[in-house]
Amino acid sequence: MGKSIVAIFLFILCLMSSYGCNHKQTALTEKDGIWVVYDRECRKCHKINGKGSLVGRFIYKMPNFTNTKWQDNVSDSRLIISVANGKGKMPGYKGKLKDEEIVDLVKVCVRSFYPPPAE
Ligand code: HEC
Repeated sequence: MGKSIVAIFLFILCLMSSYGCNHKQTALTEKDGIWVVYDRECRKCHKINGKGSLVGRFIYKMPNFTNTKWQDNVSDSRLIISVANGKGKMPGYKGKLKDEEIVDLVKVCVRSFYPPPAE
C-alpha cells in the first residue's frame, strides 16, 4: 500500500520532469538544462560533485572543481579554451557541443562547485 503510493508519486514526478525517467536525475541536473549536458559529457570523468574520479585526479592531473584555490587561479577564458580544444587526457568539445554550451558548462557548471556544495 505505502509502496504503491510512492511508486505513483515517482511516476508523476517523472512525467513532470522534462528529461524523462531513464536519464538519471540528481538535484544538480534538475537545476538547469546545461546540467543535462554536463551529465552526459562530463560527469563520467569529473563526477557529479566536481571532484573528479580518483584515477583522474591522481594520474591525469584532473582538477578538483571544489578546490577554492584552483577556482581562484583559473580564468573563465582559459577553462573555456581547455574544454573547447581539449587538454591532456580530456577530449576537446569544439564542434561536438555548441559554443554557448561550452561557455555555460564552465560558467554555470564548473563554477557552481565554488564554493563547494554542503556535503
Ligand atoms: C575522459 C575524461 C574527461 C571528460 C569526459 C571530461 N574531462 Fe575535463 N578534464 C579531464 C582531465 C584528465 C583534465 C585535466 C587535464 C590536464 O590538465 O592535463 C580535465 C580538465 C578540465 C578542466 C580544467 C582545464 C584547465 O584549463 O585547467 C575543465 C574546466 C574541464 N575539464 C571541464 C570539463 C567539461 C565541462 C567536460 C564536459 C564537456 C569535461 N571536462 C569532460 C578529463 C575529462
